[in-house]
Amino acid sequence: MLLKEKTAVVTGSENGIGKAIVSSFLENGAEVIGLDLQAEDGRVLGYEYRRADVSDMGACEDVISRIYAEHEKIDILVNCAGITRDAMTRKMTEEQFDEVVAVNLKGVWNVTRLVGPKMQAEHGGSIINISSVVGIYGNIGQVNYAATKAGVIGMTKTWAKEFALKDGNVRVNAVAPGYTLTDMLKTVPQELLDRFAGQTMLGRLAKPEEIAAAVLFLASDMSSYITGEVLNVNGGMRL
Ligand SMILES: NC(=O)c1ccc[n+]([C@@H]2O[C@H](COP(=O)([O-])OP(=O)(O)OC[C@H]3O[C@@H](n4cnc5c(N)ncnc54)[C@H](O)[C@@H]3O)[C@@H](O)[C@H]2O)c1
Repeated sequence: MLLKEKTAVVTGSENGIGKAIVSSFLENGAEVIGLDLQAEDGRVLGYEYRRADVSDMGACEDVISRIYAEHEKIDILVNCAGITRDAMTRKMTEEQFDEVVAVNLKGVWNVTRLVGPKMQAEHGGSIINISSVVGIYGNIGQVNYAATKAGVIGMTKTWAKEFALKDGNVRVNAVAPGYTLTDMLKTVPQELLDRFAGQTMLGRLAKPEEIAAAVLFLASDMSSYITGEVLNVNGGMRL
């Protein structure tokens, strides 16, 4: 029960890695509020669910203010919502570039600017941003995605400094998963997935639960002296 009496907001809660994070937080005693585009508001499977598009500033303001009206505070924020719109640079449209930036980069800012300063005022909190191996190494056909995931690391380090001011005591870290078996990889050819698996020391892709375990560690007091870090969870990937 690492998260007993903690309230956690998880974006991208309804699928893949976000869903695994919600399960592990619930198992560890947290009260969880999931934010996602799917389904309508309501309680689903024992946790509170709010429909919200993280790329929409107004929607984020509305949903976060409703959460604060109903909960004393938010102790943990996980920015996990993310999308891909892959194409080689010569073929990538402006729309593909902008869509990925709107969700993966601005979406993280839209939510965190509303939660981080409040955590700081309350003198405590843990924020975990989901980056990617692609934000560290780059990847063919993913210039938009790589830019956002590298950008998330810049935001993480900045917020680790900003939200620590005035005894803020807010820890901000990133997790950079390797290729993980979720719907996000559905469009990636099997041949490429096999190559990615072969680039790891463990010879396989990650399970969502293995990413969630790293997020749980950073969310909990087990990591009480860790902030501004990027935790690579990639099976020892080498490019
Ligand atoms: N799967 C991988 O290989 C991998 C690797 C590294 C990093 N990541 C990152 O992990 C995170 C989760 O990815 P996943 O593999 O679980 O993907 P996924 O597609 O399985 O799940 C993403 C979830 O985010 C939600 N979402 C998308 N756009 C949203 C928006 N605008 N507002 C609110 N919710 C939105 C979706 O509805 C979905 O439930 C993403 O940030 C992704 O970039 C994934």
